[in-house]
Amino acid sequence: MHYARNDSVGMPASLIVGILTLRGYLISTTLTHKARLIVFVAAILIVVLIGCGAESDAEYPIVLTTSLINEGRTVYQTNCISCHGDATTPPPLPGAPRHTADGHTWHHGDQQLVGWVLDGVPMGQTMPKFRGTLSELDAQAAIAYIKTFWPNEIIQQQSRGMH
Ligand code: HEC
Repeated sequence: MHYARNDSVGMPASLIVGILTLRGYLISTTLTHKARLIVFVAAILIVVLIGCGAESDAEYPIVLTTSLINEGRTVYQTNCISCHGDATTPPPLPGAPRHTADGHTWHHGDQQLVGWVLDGVPMGQTMPKFRGTLSELDAQAAIAYIKTFWPNEIIQQQSRGMH
């Protein structure tokens, strides 16, 4: 499933401005009515296709690979460990949840966890929003790394959505 990036919100406005500009230009040319129409429709198609391509290619559930986990270790150690700790270190920040199997993180699906990292945890008060700092792929990598804290059976249960 595709997960639209936040910059897609700005798309409709720039799209309308672009269409109006193009329309004005085409009306001022000497092309026949039919030719103008073809150029206009083709231009809109291109814009729509580019718009689709701008969507993130992040897929869910996250596919765990060694390279993603390694990237996630770096993301996690730079951005997360100072509050949350890791597999062996308890959270340095009192009140920050632990991500280990005895915590609550694995009760949620991948896409939800990534959304929380980027846009904030519901009712959360302390954790910063990482959109703008981390890409969706960075956030996926951090979650992939968190999964290395879990035994296999918890990874299976989390992926089946069992709580
Ligand atoms: C400034 C401290 C801080 C940092 C940095 C931080 N968190 Fe959090 N995080 C929290 C706190 C506190 C909560 C509980 C909700 C709240 O109060 O915001 C939380 C909640 C969460 C949750 C949901 C709770 C759960 O069940 O696990 C996830 C997932 C999470 N953090 C992941 C991350 C990841 C991944 C990073 C790094 C990209 C990160 N956090 C960085 C403090 C932090």
